[in-house]
Amino acid sequence: MLMIPGPTPVPEKVLLAMAKHPIGHRSSEFSQIIAETNENLKWLFQTKNPVLALCASGTGTIEAAIVNFLSTGDRVIVGSNGKFGDRWAQIAKAYGLNVQSITAEWGVPLNPDDIASALQADGDIKAVIVTHSETSTGVLNDLEAINKAVKENSDALIIVDAVTSLGSHNIPVDEWGIDVIGSGSQKGFMLPPGMGFVTASEKAWAAYEKATLPKFYLDLGKYRKAADKASTPFTPPVNLYFGMKVALEMMKAEGLENIFARHTRHKEAARAAMKAMGLPLFAPDTHASPAVTSVVPDGIDAEKIRSVMKKRFDIALAGGQDHMKGKMFRMGHLGFVSDRDILCAITALEATLQELGYKPPASGVLAASERLQKG
Ligand SMILES: Cc1ncc(COP(=O)(O)O)c(C=O)c1O
Repeated sequence: MLMIPGPTPVPEKVLLAMAKHPIGHRSSEFSQIIAETNENLKWLFQTKNPVLALCASGTGTIEAAIVNFLSTGDRVIVGSNGKFGDRWAQIAKAYGLNVQSITAEWGVPLNPDDIASALQADGDIKAVIVTHSETSTGVLNDLEAINKAVKENSDALIIVDAVTSLGSHNIPVDEWGIDVIGSGSQKGFMLPPGMGFVTASEKAWAAYEKATLPKFYLDLGKYRKAADKASTPFTPPVNLYFGMKVALEMMKAEGLENIFARHTRHKEAARAAMKAMGLPLFAPDTHASPAVTSVVPDGIDAEKIRSVMKKRFDIALAGGQDHMKGKMFRMGHLGFVSDRDILCAITALEATLQELGYKPPASGVLAASERLQKG
């Protein structure tokens, strides 16, 4: 059982849809699948602009955002309070951008006022790049407030890593005027790894016309042109498209509000359970990711917990990253996750703690169950 923040569980219906011989990607049969999935991706991203599917992981979508909408020497702000924020600064620097990092400690949300002040101090910022759900820490940055700070203080593009928030948290992309937003198939999409999704605003497409950074495979203009004809510029992962067709149908049947409510319920159930069991949470309640709950157990080895969970119960939890390696475990609850999965994981965790000689002050199972009951 996968309780990591990606790859996430894939429904059997989706797996079976992929268990077929590939078909020609220039066939009319495949073109129909592209036309349907493109429309449904727009629904999921809450945008009227095309959502472009790349044969790349989530990182590829943010690299695409950088190379398509910016030019060498451009001044950009990167919000960084975890591993992924750091990564976007690295990529921006690799492409010769002039990067100003606005940071917060791991576990602490980015302060929108810091971004506002930085924009006020430098009138020539071309883009602000932020990670919405910082998976390395379990912090959900306040995208609405950050976006407002960007809009009120600049003409900069806002580029958003929504790798673990798209499909788990409400992001009204067009309503908020998010310029570029990227995500990956192995996260909230109930699909295996292999595809990245990115969409851009009209303002971003205007910047594309002037952007000078080199690009070829990630040239989004090519993908947009092809999408207009229900096609792709290069050979797409055909079988992933078979799965995506079914996964998006399932998501539409559940409805966006229900999907977001389910993720909130699971996040709150997981957090209630950790608190009951006396396990310290790394992200504050006010800024907790709906995709992943990060825990820094006091006096119990996080790696031992993960090891017992895997060996005895075959439940995979993620570990800490970078300097949090060995100090943290992270429970994913993203994508195709049910109340039963949450209860099962918490039950196994409680048993694991007991096996490791730790007596939880109260039952995590009861706390989670109570929260789940509320719907
Ligand atoms: C918030 C966030 N951004 C970016 C990435 C990188 O995505 P990928 O590994 O698909 O390139 C991840 C992966 O976990 C992530 O959680």
